[in-house]
Amino acid sequence: MLDPENWDGFRAEAHRMLDDMVDSLQHIRQRPVWQPADESVRRHFLSGLPVNGAELADLHEEFMRYILPYGVGNRHPGFMGWVHGGGTPVGMLAEMLAAGLNANVGGRNQIALEVERQVIAWMRELFGFPVKASGVLTSGTSAATLIALITARNAVPGADAVAGNGVVDNHDIQLAAYASEEVHGCVARSLSMIGLGKGVLRPIACNHSHQIDLAALQWQIDADRASGVTPWLIVGSAGTVNTGAIDNLGALAAIARACGAWFHVDGAFGALAMLAPEIAPRLHGIQLADSLAMDFHKWGQVPYDAGMVLVRDGDLHRQSFATADAYLQRETEGLAAGSPWPCDYGIDLSRGFRALKVWFTFKAFGSEKIGAMISHCCALAQALARRVEIETELEMMAEVSLNIVCFRYCGDGSLADAACDKLNRKIIRHVQLSGLAAPSLTYIGNRAVIRAALVNHRTGMQDIERLIDATLDAAHRCCYQVTGVNRESDC
Ligand SMILES: Cc1ncc(COP(=O)(O)O)c(C=O)c1O
Repeated sequence: MLDPENWDGFRAEAHRMLDDMVDSLQHIRQRPVWQPADESVRRHFLSGLPVNGAELADLHEEFMRYILPYGVGNRHPGFMGWVHGGGTPVGMLAEMLAAGLNANVGGRNQIALEVERQVIAWMRELFGFPVKASGVLTSGTSAATLIALITARNAVPGADAVAGNGVVDNHDIQLAAYASEEVHGCVARSLSMIGLGKGVLRPIACNHSHQIDLAALQWQIDADRASGVTPWLIVGSAGTVNTGAIDNLGALAAIARACGAWFHVDGAFGALAMLAPEIAPRLHGIQLADSLAMDFHKWGQVPYDAGMVLVRDGDLHRQSFATADAYLQRETEGLAAGSPWPCDYGIDLSRGFRALKVWFTFKAFGSEKIGAMISHCCALAQALARRVEIETELEMMAEVSLNIVCFRYCGDGSLADAACDKLNRKIIRHVQLSGLAAPSLTYIGNRAVIRAALVNHRTGMQDIERLIDATLDAAHRCCYQVTGVNRESDC
């Protein structure tokens, strides 16, 4: 009833859609990095539920006019905000094929499960996890972290994971989790969601390189133990969101082992740097993690969304999520064969065929080329840092560990802290609105900084130059001149 009445016409329109998307990717540089949608565009999305259908060609036209131009801009080489992958044309096609299959990859006897299992096996090998380790693809690292922490909670003696009751009796045992103060907020959110509360998280100070301070961590663990609190979870970051710092994962694994804690690694974007030969040794210790959360949609350039969790103890992982519902019973043959299923390892029962675009990406490019792209992003970050250092009006605000550069405009250095923060926030907004580059804002040591995360495989040296030029131009025109002339009204 919903298939096309005219398949030839549908096919022609489908080809036009594909051509438009290929064109938009091929000529991405000709567009602004980002442009805000004005009110007339936003008003387009206020109409009510359509009662009657429209022609596909008209919908295509609407998409081209009202949707395509107003994305975040992360496909563009000038996009450097937050940590966004750029996607690839190959990934786009894989996504189309997956949608064509309309596979529900929660389970059952279908080949899509083998594709996902292969992707997990590749990652298990890449990260040096044992064969018994399990994994599941997720919407992203936030969801992967939640799955990992539910499993970690079920590892606590007294938690009855097998019965699906992992709640620890808080009267008998008080748990503590440890992570650097730079850890991503998804860890605290997961702790909250699993009912332990953010309060169990001890934010540990960082050293000057923004890595977790190991002595401070050990001190906190000893203090907790002395007061009867059980060290339960240690989280290491393989690339912090603010500065890209990599914690000393080997040392964290040893501390976790010594105090009997679960060792989780947040490798949202940095874990895939394992593919870059010069960076891989700095991730040493990742192979000792009890769980690892990571994304393919960031540095892996797989179209959104695609993340993954790996868990060393596959049995505990499965026991934490598998159910014995009558309608999900397994068989040795037929459609209900092939257990365990992905739904036994995560939150979703119905889930899409995310693995296909990951599988296509690794098959199309190979791990070596993806590793080379990651190395290239890191080299660009170093080049940007050098450019910042030679500009007297700019200053670096953090060591560059991977692909993230934090800097700010300081003019002649005479601005008070609060004014300088305000100025840098304005500069970021102005640069974003210029369409020339799109860095984002963060705070380091309570100071507002311009943050450029070089994640996009299309970014090159000309984009680095454009960011610097746009930053200086915004600073001069917008708000403040080194000469002392205030031209804030131009902003
Ligand atoms: C270090 C780190 N951890 C976790 C996350 C959350 O990942 P996601 O957005 O895939 O849920 C991010 C996102 O940028 C991140 O950079």
